[in-house]
Amino acid sequence: MSAELSGGIRLRTATEADHAAIGALLASDAQAAEPASLPAGDRYVAEVRGTVVGVAVLERFGGDGLLRAACVDAAWRGQGIGTALIEHVLTEAALAALDTVVILTARARGFFARFGFREVSAGEVPDPVARAVARGDAPTSAAIPMQLRLAES
Ligand SMILES: CC(C)(COP(=O)(O)OP(=O)(O)OC[C@H]1O[C@@H](n2cnc3c(N)ncnc32)[C@H](O)[C@@H]1OP(=O)(O)O)[C@@H](O)C(=O)NCCC(=O)NCCS
Repeated sequence: MSAELSGGIRLRTATEADHAAIGALLASDAQAAEPASLPAGDRYVAEVRGTVVGVAVLERFGGDGLLRAACVDAAWRGQGIGTALIEHVLTEAALAALDTVVILTARARGFFARFGFREVSAGEVPDPVARAVARGDAPTSAAIPMQLRLAES
């Protein structure tokens, strides 16, 4: 599914052709960058007139999802693109009937709280997601798990 917003912003599922742009976007933000390669999962991008300016990845584990690599190009922040992108991903997660979406974040807790994510202890994170995190998927050791229960929202 894709969505057109005002200002020529388009939200859509990423394709193979977007990989270089996504990689460059994540590499431009050292703290947001995922270590080696792009995370697996459903990849979504925000583009403005054909240029990728935002990315978010939803990795699914059964009925739960791990939101990763959420990043908007620094030059495009503060214009609602991040909000539109995350709302798009959460709509897709709801359409996929996911129960819970988890994000690990150190510095954007206030941003994700706007969508209803709340901070949880590691023990509250659904098991499959917790195992993925334990494999070393957390972007920083300071990242705190936040969780959104879609079934309740
Ligand atoms: C977090 C991020 C995706 C937000 O994207 P964005 O396009 O700037 O977001 P929006 O323009 O939709 O911002 C919506 C609101 O959230 C606020 N906000 C943005 N980033 C925030 C943050 N890190 N913490 C708290 N609030 C934040 C904005 O100030 C804005 O508030 P306002 O409506 O009162 O003006 C972007 O800042 C980013 O890529 N940051 C670096 C990577 C990162 O931290 N990713 C998070 C996962 S680790």
